[in-house]
Amino acid sequence: MRAYNFQEIRTPIFESTELFARGVGEETDIVSKEMYTWEDRGRAESDKGQSLTLRPENTAGVVRAYIEHKLWDRGLNKLYYIGPQFRRERPQKGRYRQFYQIGAEAIGPSTAGSESPARDAEILEMLATLLDRLGIKNWTLQLNSVGCPADRARFNEALKAALAPVAAQMCVDCQRRAVTNPLRVFDCKVPEDQPNIEKLPRISQFLDEGCRKHFEEVQSILTSVGVAFTLNDRLVRGLDYYTRTAFEFTHGALGAQNAILGGGRYDGLSEALGGPAAPGIGFAIGEDRLVMSLAESAPVPVLRPDVYIAPLGGGMNREAARLARELRAENLVVELGDETFRLKKSFDAAGKLGAQYVLIAGENEVKSDIFTLKNQQTGEQTSVERANLAAWLKKALNR
Ligand code: HAM
Repeated sequence: MRAYNFQEIRTPIFESTELFARGVGEETDIVSKEMYTWEDRGRAESDKGQSLTLRPENTAGVVRAYIEHKLWDRGLNKLYYIGPQFRRERPQKGRYRQFYQIGAEAIGPSTAGSESPARDAEILEMLATLLDRLGIKNWTLQLNSVGCPADRARFNEALKAALAPVAAQMCVDCQRRAVTNPLRVFDCKVPEDQPNIEKLPRISQFLDEGCRKHFEEVQSILTSVGVAFTLNDRLVRGLDYYTRTAFEFTHGALGAQNAILGGGRYDGLSEALGGPAAPGIGFAIGEDRLVMSLAESAPVPVLRPDVYIAPLGGGMNREAARLARELRAENLVVELGDETFRLKKSFDAAGKLGAQYVLIAGENEVKSDIFTLKNQQTGEQTSVERANLAAWLKKALNR
């Protein structure tokens, strides 16, 4: 994120229900079935309650913050977030009710370049680089354009017409969607419905000149930077705010829940939430799935203390605390024992933590201002003057 100049934003874990209903869309599975929503009590009789929801995703919250804090003053905003999201889905491998997303949004006035296909390509290239650097192999970038509202209106009409004769044979959700929001039929997972869905018209046939050009330019930049993609005109994404570019990165090893991440453009979302025009594009990685797609051999980082201070005898906690403070001020990682521990217990504790050195702080050491540092690996002991402890340790640890 730093290399691509994104900065962190933290939005609240819960927001007003209306934000998600208007942002993500009433007809989506997320809003109609999956949100954790409650009626908040007012604080006083006169104070009316409010409907609140645990965030099922973070884009609506970022755009709400953009509007509330007039972030357009900053031009193009490139913001990222990492945090929990909540959806009441049937839990299974790779699908949880509290899951974690690593996401980012590039949003701002059109004059700041927010609408440019260069933004789309930059984000997609960043994601390809991220997955490659993590050693995740065999990912596929599925790419589509879902057009602009005018294209979608024409597409929806065509879908309605195509669905009318077959809707009755489809699942109840599809029967409803066929009338209220036919695009959402593409979210259907019912196997029996798939042959009917396969025969429906595709958005790619309805893109106007501007949307087609935008999409071609995204593809041409991706090709020039060497990011491979697969065009998939069935990909409409399960949220209503998308316009133009929509994408998912999938990974075979994940099974049924094969999307590591998804995202796209949402050029009309700010206006839908009562803000000014603010085109944007973003993505969210399912962090749980990202971890699952890491090669099994990926090393787990073990964090060890540089030095374990073993206070030896009554009154030595005070001295050990001072020593720890001095060493930590020099950016050394210090673990502290307790003066009631026998020396053996301190060494055992230091061993369990994998501390590189043990520093013994007993009465003699404090009086003489000379301390013994024991290298836990070699067993070698060295006497070091207090004033030189930090420098000695840093040298020994190659800092
Ligand atoms: P989404 O496709 O709903 O998009 O979620 C993004 C990713 O979150 C999915 O690809 C998946 O990896 C992960 N995910 C979703 N639900 C679950 C779950 N129940 N358990 C585990 N992982 C899950 C969004 O959320 C959009 N806000 C992305 C975006 C940002 N679009 C534009 N900007």
